[in-house]
Amino acid sequence: MNIDNFIKIFFLMILSTEIGQSLIPVERSALSSVLVDKRIYFLGGESLHSPKPSSTLDQILYLDVSKSFNTVNPPFEEIINVPIPFGSSYATTFLSPQKNVIYLFAGNMVDANTKNPSLEFYKPVLHSYNLETREWTVPITNGFEPTRRRAINGVINKETGKFYVFGGWEQINGQNNYTVYNDMIVFDTISLTWSIGSTINAPLPRTYYTATLLSNGIIVFIGGKDNNFRDVDINQLALYDTKVDKWSIMTARGVTLENRGLHSAVLTPDERIIIFGGSKDSNEPVLNQLAVLNTKTTPYEWSIPQVSAIDNMPLTTSAHSATLVENYMFINFGTIPNYSKIQLLPFFYILDIRNFTWVTHFEPEESPIVITSVNNSPTNSTNSPDLTTEKSDNGKQIGIIIGTIGLSVGVGTVVGLLGYKYYKKQKYKHTIPTAGSPIN
Ligand SMILES: *[C@@H]1O[C@H](CO)[C@@H](O)[C@H](O)[C@H]1NC(C)=O
Ligand SMILES: *[C@@H]1O[C@H](CO)[C@@H](O)[C@H](O)[C@H]1NC(C)=O
Ligand SMILES: *[C@@H]1O[C@H](CO)[C@@H](O)[C@H](O)[C@H]1NC(C)=O
Ligand SMILES: *[C@@H]1O[C@H](CO)[C@@H](O)[C@H](O)[C@H]1NC(C)=O
Repeated sequence: MNIDNFIKIFFLMILSTEIGQSLIPVERSALSSVLVDKRIYFLGGESLHSPKPSSTLDQILYLDVSKSFNTVNPPFEEIINVPIPFGSSYATTFLSPQKNVIYLFAGNMVDANTKNPSLEFYKPVLHSYNLETREWTVPITNGFEPTRRRAINGVINKETGKFYVFGGWEQINGQNNYTVYNDMIVFDTISLTWSIGSTINAPLPRTYYTATLLSNGIIVFIGGKDNNFRDVDINQLALYDTKVDKWSIMTARGVTLENRGLHSAVLTPDERIIIFGGSKDSNEPVLNQLAVLNTKTTPYEWSIPQVSAIDNMPLTTSAHSATLVENYMFINFGTIPNYSKIQLLPFFYILDIRNFTWVTHFEPEESPIVITSVNNSPTNSTNSPDLTTEKSDNGKQIGIIIGTIGLSVGVGTVVGLLGYKYYKKQKYKHTIPTAGSPIN
């Protein structure tokens, strides 16, 4: 081919692929995260060292958890050519059941390129990133689109494809005029339809909480702040049964925990909810950063596990993300209550949830099996291994990665959900594309 065509194709390739660049990321909090196959994606956040004029980041970072690494030097990469189309923080993310789309719902949405960005800049509350085409779009939806709100934590049911987001808060006119919501927003990612859950016995308005979906369809709401930004009683659990659209309250037994907001939560395969970090009152650290809610007894029971010591562990982190990867709870970024003005490291802690041991060296449990075969249909998500695919330009299959994690669902403060998705990663020299999406 002649050189012109070569250049055209080269630029087409650049446009149609993610360009990953290894980096030491700036510190951030109030980000959202989502596990897609063997990658944790970290979206947006607030940073004092934002590379753009706005402190609200439009960055997408990812971490490849198919490789071993040390927490001192984790191999973060940034998708530099398709950032979020706006600065995003205090949002919530979901992976579609087909594992090809990341939904980013509400949160702070600002123009990342403006010093004093207007909150009015991005009206639509739902944006999606297609992992195959590497494009951001605003889905065309049916039903009444909810108003924007922030400091929310949603869950998605991967069997029904519906996601659920409760409450959150939003400034209405100026600094001191805000609303904290208590509506249950439901979005069906199959029919792209909004609806509202029951308001009967709904909890008081709430924000900065965590939400965790159990396998029986019940969402457990933990902690957070009420409509006066006072701590919600963490021992009073708000439960929403997605199967029958009903709210209830349960008083947990066991340890009486300190209240907190801006913490994170993950669900273990045996249906314990592990919470970490957060802050109480007006940004005070909590004493027991880790607590476990056993949902296999009724009422559910709080306990505080014995945890191994870890060097350089901060007093507590809040507004971080938490993601469950196999038997490891990844705690990333965040801020320290009362110390938010100092330069913060990109905190990185990994907890082995089998014995509550902090580990500094991550070793993936099983290497993905790479086979060659042809399968381009959506995968069956019911606990069987997920076949995921990526096609080359002539339509031939390059590889299929089999992920074997079944039940585990990771949910964080601001965090996303589980998933696994294809990825055939090819790493070239630094700023060269890391993945080959076809050029057609
Ligand atoms: C807050 O905003 C609402 C809605 O625009 C308005 O009705 C109300 O008067 C405002 N309150 C204050 C204290 O500004
Ligand atoms: C955090 O800040 C508050 C208010 O400035 C102060 O009262 C409190 O003692 C501080 N807590 C710690 C642990 O430093
Ligand atoms: C924790 O459990 C893992 C997996 O069983 C094991 O490899 C590790 O050595 C244990 N750590 C401690 C401190 O017991
Ligand atoms: C997924 O597997 C289940 C159980 O094996 C089966 O009943 C269902 O039809 C499958 N769904 C798809 C989309 O293949």
